[in-house]
Amino acid sequence: MRKPIIAGNWKLHKTVDESVDLANQLKAALADVKNVEIIVAPVFTALTAVAQAVNGSSIEVAAQNCYPAVSGAFTGEVSPSLLKNAGCNSIIVGHSERRQLFNESNAFINAKIKAIHAAGARAIFCIGETLTERESGRMFDVLKRQINEGLVGLDAEAMGGVVVAYEPVWAIGTGKVASNEQAQEAHAFVRGVLSELFATEVAAATRILYGGSVKPDNVDGLMAMPDVDGALVGGASLKAEDFARIVRFQQG
Ligand code: 13P
Repeated sequence: MRKPIIAGNWKLHKTVDESVDLANQLKAALADVKNVEIIVAPVFTALTAVAQAVNGSSIEVAAQNCYPAVSGAFTGEVSPSLLKNAGCNSIIVGHSERRQLFNESNAFINAKIKAIHAAGARAIFCIGETLTERESGRMFDVLKRQINEGLVGLDAEAMGGVVVAYEPVWAIGTGKVASNEQAQEAHAFVRGVLSELFATEVAAATRILYGGSVKPDNVDGLMAMPDVDGALVGGASLKAEDFARIVRFQQG
């Protein structure tokens, strides 16, 4: 069985104090949750403080980005090993905002995933099609290419440290969530591609999260889909009450 993951991507929001405050609220609100992995991804400057705040709880901390090197002359960048050292077990890579605003390629994302694996951390690997790609019938090709190129050179063992997040670009920050059926269709396709690339058992064990306008009032339907193993939440992860309700999604 795949244990569900509910992850909050706080993007470029909140000061250190505000981040710690939200983390403390979540720690109190979710102390009894056992059957869901809970992850929060604050800005870099708040990582250590949030990691300390959630210490002793089941909430884990993720970074939103990294650079694929251990150390060196890379002004302004942060390596997976330093993020681990700061208290992060997971690192988000390939988010559509980074692909679109910072021109990140599948090859660069692949290098990051390899560096994350080498550092012993977990990659939350985001993929997803734009509205134009979907409407012109290229969605499956785009997803397949993002997966094949993003995961090239990884083996089954490394896949144990990869979580995939399907985030259709048209659903991110738009309030326009994918329907349960659209999410299921994409997730089943992604699992099929993973199965071809690795093995059926690897595909069956990989968690595939849905992201894009997940809210307290739509999470239950999405989580009822057989191939939706969790959610990567943006806007609704910034409010403790909303995120806590998403973590406590109702099954069936
Ligand atoms: P929203 O939930 O705000 O649409 O953002 C989704 C997202 O990008 C999570 O990584």
